[in-house]
Amino acid sequence: MRTLSLTLDPFAKPKFLQIARAISSAIKQGQVEAKEALPSARQLAEQLQTNRHTVMAAYQELIAQGWVESVERQGYRVVQSFPLESSLYPKTKQNITQSKFKWRINPLIFEEKNAKPAHEYRYNFAGGNPDISAFPFHELKPFMSDSLTRPELSGLSYGNNRGNSQFISQVATYLRRARSITDKEIITVNGSQEALYLISRVLLKPGAKVAVESLGYRPAWNAFKTAGAELVAIKQHPKGIDIEHLTQLVKNQDISLIYLTPLHQYPTTVTLPIHERIKIYQLAATYNLAIIEDDYDHEFHYSSQPLAPLAADDPKGLVIYVSTFSKIMFPGCRIGYMAVDKSLAPAIINYRSIMNHKPNVLMQDAIGRWMKDGAFERHLRRTTKIYQQRRDNLVSELKKYQTQGLDISFTTPAGGMAIWLDVENNAKELEEFGLAHDIYLVSESSFHLDKGQNQNRFVRLGFAGMKPEKMNQGLAILFSYFIR
Ligand SMILES: Cc1ncc(COP(=O)(O)O)c(C=O)c1O
Repeated sequence: MRTLSLTLDPFAKPKFLQIARAISSAIKQGQVEAKEALPSARQLAEQLQTNRHTVMAAYQELIAQGWVESVERQGYRVVQSFPLESSLYPKTKQNITQSKFKWRINPLIFEEKNAKPAHEYRYNFAGGNPDISAFPFHELKPFMSDSLTRPELSGLSYGNNRGNSQFISQVATYLRRARSITDKEIITVNGSQEALYLISRVLLKPGAKVAVESLGYRPAWNAFKTAGAELVAIKQHPKGIDIEHLTQLVKNQDISLIYLTPLHQYPTTVTLPIHERIKIYQLAATYNLAIIEDDYDHEFHYSSQPLAPLAADDPKGLVIYVSTFSKIMFPGCRIGYMAVDKSLAPAIINYRSIMNHKPNVLMQDAIGRWMKDGAFERHLRRTTKIYQQRRDNLVSELKKYQTQGLDISFTTPAGGMAIWLDVENNAKELEEFGLAHDIYLVSESSFHLDKGQNQNRFVRLGFAGMKPEKMNQGLAILFSYFIR
């Protein structure tokens, strides 16, 4: 820390004492913390428009009083223990106080539980957890370096808030070739959560009804709810969506939007069959409903080529396709995109300009260069193979436990990053046992829109984020729950 804002008391004399008092008061207020560096005498003299010797005299005074020490070749810094105790200080980062101010928080904002994050557990079976340690950072590095060496200056300014043009063109090519999506405008976002939020703001008025899978993705639901929408659960069956139920909802409930995860249903990982996709699309077209298709882990499909998204065959232009780089890279990259009909794009782009002018385009630029080079698709092929091996490993381990007599059952998922495991009415207990043994997993109850529907049967076991040996160790500890 070199810069330090000081308030001098003009009535204190002489000048060096004015400066010394201002610095000790900055220390008391917590502006600088124990052991933190202070500005050099030259710097401070420049800042205060005074003589360097006056500042040095101030520092000598503070050293004598026990506030400051001088360290060879480093300069002045605050001492470890202050010379007197006071309730006013130190206000350090660890010691941020909470005022009693009564905030009038919008009732549409609800508190999320601030639990320990999944990655802090020794064994992390979080369902959508990619293996960040396997990401080829070294491969991306030259492209990031290239973005900084030869930046596209015009893109770094305000304006053009759809996102980085090179990245958009690469995503458009990729979507056309790998996902058969041809007739949509791409808008980039800082992660697909931002897309869900933007869509909510643009399409939902308070009181609007959104049909969602009855077991589903809570962060999307929260985005809809903060726009004042009401959620209506669509019944599911083990192989997809109860179309009869959805039809009744659409006919009777004035639904304005349907949110789906068709390729690998979240959290059950079931792939929505073609005949149900067609029926849902026809229903939406007949009743003039938009569909959000959240295709969050498209590449990770193992048994066959992934089914083409609903957005690939969308003559009415009603499908809003949302996808992310959080799974194919890592969640911290905060890069996602939506592919929408030309008629919707301007409203979304305009709304974004209210919220955030434009997304962070520098990272997009580097990824665009990475994609253009072809290294991105090599990375996808490699990762898909690794995750398939991990799925196979988890399947064979689970089968081993089954033959040992454990009451568990599952359907091998055709893709995705998790297995939806039936543990026969032990779901919450198993989750709690896991958490107590440093194992992160989530049980069925967390995924229900209507908690009353919870049967306490399933847990979601993510397999992508851990190497097989570690996964197997975690499973052995987890399943010791059954043989206690
Ligand atoms: C259903 C679903 N959608 C989207 C995402 C990704 O969200 P984001 O792009 O905001 O990281 C996830 C990640 O867990 C998910 O499970």
